[in-house]
Amino acid sequence: MAHASQFKNPVIKWIDSRLPIFTLMRHEYVDYPMPKNVNYLWAFGAIAMIMLMIMILTGIMLAMQYTPNATMAFDSVERIMRDVNFGWLLRYMHSNGAAMFFVAVYIHVFRGLYYGSYKEPRELVWMLGIVVLLLMMATAFMGYVLPWGQMSFWAATVITNLFSAIPVVGDPIVTWLWGGFSVGNPTLNRFFALHYLLPFVLIGVVLLHTSAVHIVGTNNPLGIDLKGPQDSVPFSPYASVKDLYAVAVFLIIYAVFVFYQPNFMGHPDNYIPANPMVTPSHIVPEWYFLPFYAILRAIPDKLGGVIAMFGSILILFALPWLDTSKVRSCVFRPIYRWFFWLLLLDCILLGYVGSQLPEGIWVILGQLATFYYFFHFLVLMPILGKLERPLPLPESISKPVLKGGGPVAAGATASTMEKA
Ligand code: HEM
Repeated sequence: MAHASQFKNPVIKWIDSRLPIFTLMRHEYVDYPMPKNVNYLWAFGAIAMIMLMIMILTGIMLAMQYTPNATMAFDSVERIMRDVNFGWLLRYMHSNGAAMFFVAVYIHVFRGLYYGSYKEPRELVWMLGIVVLLLMMATAFMGYVLPWGQMSFWAATVITNLFSAIPVVGDPIVTWLWGGFSVGNPTLNRFFALHYLLPFVLIGVVLLHTSAVHIVGTNNPLGIDLKGPQDSVPFSPYASVKDLYAVAVFLIIYAVFVFYQPNFMGHPDNYIPANPMVTPSHIVPEWYFLPFYAILRAIPDKLGGVIAMFGSILILFALPWLDTSKVRSCVFRPIYRWFFWLLLLDCILLGYVGSQLPEGIWVILGQLATFYYFFHFLVLMPILGKLERPLPLPESISKPVLKGGGPVAAGATASTMEKA
């Protein structure tokens, strides 16, 4: 029996009664109840999604002109920049787009950390998010190798070599990854194939991620559950228009980089063709990998460094269980809130350390910052969750618990406050 579609347009009704995709879209992006107090930090999921689309579109068009061959890759990119109509725009949109994509996702992750969006019942949303992050990192790393400049070649050499730290099978794994005995043409070819493939896998995991959000419901700055229809607004037009506005502002900032500072976030050495005979004096990854690079170098032992680096991301999978607090949002956690900001500073410090040569004070600072990173998640989080006494939670989003104001939800509308 056909699905009883509520759409009036005959074409839409015809399709929808056979395959209810329009009903599904209405359910997810029109009627979906959004907590009425979410702030602009909740727009970064939508921003990340737009960035993913821009990356795929510009990437496909670049691939039509790019040549994944070690003797031609560098020149093919220069040809895109100079001879292909608007090739410079495509390339700058793609390279700066990657950086802006990471900006959006890092803000999205820290939003989740601050408001406890990883806690029950959103554990799976969070874990799928980390899978997305890992996929993004792999995609960005392989993309950076494609222009076949000095940094491309040497970053690929350094990072693939990390696998040689694995006991017994390490060296054969590296040879297998390279498709030879050094980074070369087969490596470039497979990186291109995977760099083209992974974003589509990313789309699949992102769909699971956003579906999971809509099953359990969106968190909000107060971190409390919706108590009834008075606590939410329909996704459209309220959240969709707010998201669109945030997307527009974000795209303007992105455009400033693309048009006025297109090489600000890149490394000048990548305009030198790859040369296996000349190692750059200082090999640095793109800025969005710097904190992890600092963790890698903080441990004097190669295998230890590799374990710490991967561990710093994998530990995030355990977050829903490492955080023992009964309260989600930092708004009601007076002590933990400070440690959240300390963690953010620690990550920025790690990033800075990662950009410096590993000598003198930077070695010590890198080790201290790495220690603190793990200390935060493994020790502070479980202990503080038990010891800290959270502030009283409001009864509901619309009804703050204290008379005469109390913790009124950020962004509450005038009518909500009247009701309160
Ligand atoms: C391609 C990357 C990503 C995209 C496109 C994406 C997209 C989204 C969207 C559209 C939402 C719903 C709107 C919102 O709350 O912002 C969302 C929610 C969420 N995302 Fe992501 N996400 C990405 C990466 C991540 C990562 C790396 C993490 C964490 C490791 C993460 C954790 C979460 C959490 C916990 C929520 C629920 C937030 C809440 O309900 O308050 N996401 N994501």
